[in-house]
Amino acid sequence: MTAVGIDAIEIWTGKLKLDLAETFAPEKGEDPEKYTKGLGLHASSFPDAHEDIVTMGANAAHRLMDRKGLTPDDIGRIDVATESAFDNSKPVSTYIAGCLEQVYDEDFHHANKGERKFACIAGTQSLDDAYNWIKAGRNRGRSALVVATDTALYARGDPGEATQGAGAVAMLISEDPNLVEMSAEQGYGSADETDFLKPNQQFPSVDGKRSMQVYLARMREALEDYESVAGASHPEDFAYVPFHTPFPGMVRKAAVLAYRHMIRGTPIEEELAEEIGFQPREEDFEDREEYEEAIRDYMDELSSTDDYREWYDATIEPTLSISREVGNWYTGSVHIARAAALKQAAEEGRDLAGRKLGVGSYGSGAQAEIHAETVQEGWKDEIEALNIDEQNAARYDLSFDEYENVHDRHNHDKTIEMEDFTVPDGEFVFTGTGRMNERLYDYVE
Ligand code: HMG
Repeated sequence: MTAVGIDAIEIWTGKLKLDLAETFAPEKGEDPEKYTKGLGLHASSFPDAHEDIVTMGANAAHRLMDRKGLTPDDIGRIDVATESAFDNSKPVSTYIAGCLEQVYDEDFHHANKGERKFACIAGTQSLDDAYNWIKAGRNRGRSALVVATDTALYARGDPGEATQGAGAVAMLISEDPNLVEMSAEQGYGSADETDFLKPNQQFPSVDGKRSMQVYLARMREALEDYESVAGASHPEDFAYVPFHTPFPGMVRKAAVLAYRHMIRGTPIEEELAEEIGFQPREEDFEDREEYEEAIRDYMDELSSTDDYREWYDATIEPTLSISREVGNWYTGSVHIARAAALKQAAEEGRDLAGRKLGVGSYGSGAQAEIHAETVQEGWKDEIEALNIDEQNAARYDLSFDEYENVHDRHNHDKTIEMEDFTVPDGEFVFTGTGRMNERLYDYVE
């Protein structure tokens, strides 16, 4: 069976930064530690005046194609996952292809293009589409380009404002990939929910607290569904578990839930029972609420045991390092979590080839998906090519007044002129709108 998965990845962050502890918290009259410790976020990325979902996606894709020595003829489909689209008909992938055609001699007329929508999980769904297309033998030896690109803005004053972010992840999906092979086994947890939605509006309607409960409920279902095809999972199965990361504090909650589930009925649960007792079993409770409260108490205790802490520090913490600095990138978020973990492994000189990742994706509305990935021999070279640390360090650090302008500039209901904070260099830029209200882009040398 041919291995299919992610061959290469490139990340492009919005070029502006809002420091949450230094700049945002004082304006909100909040303790900076609410952001750095509670939510686990240090900063958010924002797009400069010349940036948007197209430029960020095209710039990530261009870096990827350039580094891999690809031409349009090597790519048979371009799928863009986004929940920040500005057009209900023409997909963002056509704009991105148009940008790339400015810098390559060939065109993408042969490539199937589309746009995937299901909140943040659309990035992973696009990977699935590419995987299935290659597995079905319809790719004619070509690879797929998947671009997850979002400008995750909330209305000013919304509690979600602290979790904003902007950036793009481009991924090449191929046969015999260099980075990770994706498993055929998948698990889903999917239900009609109204926790976070954008009914023809730019900024989301959010029930923040409920959205966190829905994330956990769907993720637990997805894990059970995954195990129904892949067999029971054990904490030691996975070198890393990258989750969708709206903010690291959310992943802290998902991780303890996953760990509790995986140790149930194992010698680890038995060993821990001496310290914190056995996990509550539903059949021992008459009332569902009482059972849920007992589970919450058990998870509180579990999260401070040495066993759990060691597992968390090794398997989860490394997935959060990029998210902490950039915020929520919606469709790209789980993909920067994977990259962060592999980046740390490369920096530590770990040999990961053959090890497994458990990937937990999520999109509001709501659906979770879990699959496994096997790290491939060429992973280190791919990961060492990333320059996200340099990009993050080069971002322009906004004052609060500047942040307000940037938010207005990217608000579709406002027309605000704003000077660029950074100078475009070897990248695609937004230049204005044309006669049919289409957006226009140029490549700046
Ligand atoms: P909030 O009400 O501003 O924050 O909203 P809070 O008061 O709940 O505090 C947050 C955490 O900081 C809490 O931790 C506090 O205890 C702690 P917890 O108790 O939950 O563990 N805290 C402090 N810690 C240390 N020192 C302090 C301090 N003060 C407080 N001084 C909320 C938080 C997440 C609700 C808000 O930011 C929000 O609405 N965000 C948007 C929705 C969201 O991100 N939901 C996540 C799940 S849904 C999802 O992931 C999908 C999504 O990506 C969209 C998509 O799929 O397209 C959003």
